Amino acid sequence: MGYQEVYDSWKADPEGFWMEATKAIDWVDAPTQALYDRGDNMYEWFADAKVNTCWNAVDRHVEAGRGEQTAIIYDSPITHTKREISYVELRNRVANLAGALRAKGVEKGDRVIIYMPMIPEALEAMLACARLGAVHSVVFGGFAANELAVRIDDAKPKAIIAASCGLEPNRVVHYKPLLDGAIELSEHKPDFCVIFQREQEVAELIEGRDYNWHGFQYGVEPAECVPVEGNHPAYILYTSGTTGQPKGVIRPTAGHLVALNWTMKNLYNVDPGDVFWAASDVGWVVGHSYITYGPLVHGNTTIVFEGKPVGTPDAGTFWRVISEHKVKTFFTAPTAFRAVKREDPKGEFVTKYDLSCLQQVYLAGERADPDTIVWAQEQLNVPVIDHWWQTETGFAIAGNLLGIEELPTKLGSPAKPLPGYDVQILDEGGNPVAAGELGAIAIKLPLPPGTLPTLWNAEARFKKSYLTTFPGYYETGDAGMIDEDGYVYIMARTDDVINVAGHRLSTGAMEEVLASHPDVAECAVIGVSDTLKGQMPMGFLCLNAGTEKAHDDVIKECVKLVREKIGPVAAFKLCTVVDRLPKTRSGKILRGTMVSIADGKDYKMPATIDDPAILDEIKEALQTMGYAQ
Ligand code: COA
Ligand code: AMP
Repeated sequence: MGYQEVYDSWKADPEGFWMEATKAIDWVDAPTQALYDRGDNMYEWFADAKVNTCWNAVDRHVEAGRGEQTAIIYDSPITHTKREISYVELRNRVANLAGALRAKGVEKGDRVIIYMPMIPEALEAMLACARLGAVHSVVFGGFAANELAVRIDDAKPKAIIAASCGLEPNRVVHYKPLLDGAIELSEHKPDFCVIFQREQEVAELIEGRDYNWHGFQYGVEPAECVPVEGNHPAYILYTSGTTGQPKGVIRPTAGHLVALNWTMKNLYNVDPGDVFWAASDVGWVVGHSYITYGPLVHGNTTIVFEGKPVGTPDAGTFWRVISEHKVKTFFTAPTAFRAVKREDPKGEFVTKYDLSCLQQVYLAGERADPDTIVWAQEQLNVPVIDHWWQTETGFAIAGNLLGIEELPTKLGSPAKPLPGYDVQILDEGGNPVAAGELGAIAIKLPLPPGTLPTLWNAEARFKKSYLTTFPGYYETGDAGMIDEDGYVYIMARTDDVINVAGHRLSTGAMEEVLASHPDVAECAVIGVSDTLKGQMPMGFLCLNAGTEKAHDDVIKECVKLVREKIGPVAAFKLCTVVDRLPKTRSGKILRGTMVSIADGKDYKMPATIDDPAILDEIKEALQTMGYAQ
């Protein structure tokens, strides 16, 4: 069957399509019904099933006689370490860790926060939670203590599993002090913490609260897999929304297993035993779906890469890892390729390695610019596939399903919707627009299995954020179009979310931090185009009348404040002081117009603007920073 036939077969019988896909999963009780309509546009999949994620990701491969196959390859150019873990070793390690967690009181439904860098123990911690039916929430290491505290207060974890440190090329990230600081800031306190001591930095443990990863597993009874209901939350992953309060995306257990497993062959074109590498971080959705769960559930070998595309040690690292570990499918972010291309435009490093194992490359996380795709195709001589997805969906909404049929590439488009997604472009009134016209991208409900059923502790916010604007649809927050051949194009966000080096960030959250500076009266943060990172945040500050501090000092303090409150990952470095912000007569800041000016694009003078002269002042400020050229 080709793409169209598969898509049509889903459309003709969505429930039958996904029920067929459930056959690839090991069930304790197989689902008897696919979709549950809970009313008010809320849906769930496979709710009456009983299943365990860890069993499917680990134990079943051992039972099937593949225990000696490598499950995880750890390759860390930062620490000069390489290690392989087989499925049977992984099963034993995860069962012991789960046993130790259970001995300390962690049970099905309890939340566990995981704050770890790219080491195999991060995956083991996730799987140990899954084994017990505990709900993990992984927090990215580039976030500051305050962001961790916000997540602790929302998820209310019984335990936190952390590493002593992370390693960035230029510095050690001191996880333990960040963790201690977060627990001090948060109202909720975990019962206990488990600390994985890395040799690069041994952290001080707090007696009675902190346990050593190895010590606390000593002599415990290994835990068996605990069956959970199909709609039990597998995990919570916080992602940026419009405000400083992140959204806790819930991943439902059964749908997650079914959908991810389906994508491994049909989208990523790998068979069990093949090596699949997603060069992301477990703190992001890509890491959850395609470093940990997807490849392991499907019986692949996954790679945990602790390094950067460039500088660890050079722009040939990706190719070295692919060649050395025989990677068949590689997944990264466009920004990573831009970084490599900048250092090695002619691909001199590429020619140093035998890349005959590599069959296809996937890009996601931000818009893939045609230059980068063409460069990668020319260097690697394999299909380079852009695909579009979100933390909320957990797997691709649109892509080129290479395991089914390779569609012709159209540069600038992540190809066509995957089965499960009825993607439509709507105008402001919620009416579908003609092919080739721009509008809001929405998905007709219900969403497929594995996508978010709601937000953690925030059902009203879920409905308001996703279901209210276009009744009967899920609002993606992206704008774009579908052409006459059915190819989807993603052009921009319709909200305050920006994408910096493939990291999703909220300008609203940065504004909240800037506004807390005592000298700042008003502020705006926008995302300006950046040739490496796609976008960079830029702050505009209006200071209180009578502020005596030098502008440069306030700017420096504000840059520091965002780093302290949100984290280095915000990459907040561009900031300026202006007298006034451009606004509509009703007081809404014209951020979109500011972005157009910064990027040197044509823009229409907004009819509702209060005082057009302010735009000239903004342009001048931008020009002094090297923008608006
Ligand atoms: N822990 C702690 N700090 C982190 C971190 C982590 N896991 N990840 C990034 N940071 C820090 C960086 O050290 C940097 O700090 P600095 O301001 O002190 O230099 C800051 O956060 C910004 O990081 P980043 O935006 O990633 O910039 P960079 O200059 O370090 O690297 C790239 C640029 C393009 C090489 C890098 O962004 C990259 O590899 N991006 C790919 C992202 C990706 O794969 N995303 C997954 C989505 S699919
Ligand atoms: P995240 O939740 O971090 O995966 O970010 C999701 C957002 O990143 C989407 O809503 C898009 O705005 C953007 N995005 C992800 N993949 C793509 C892509 N292939 N093309 C364009 N934008 C993308």
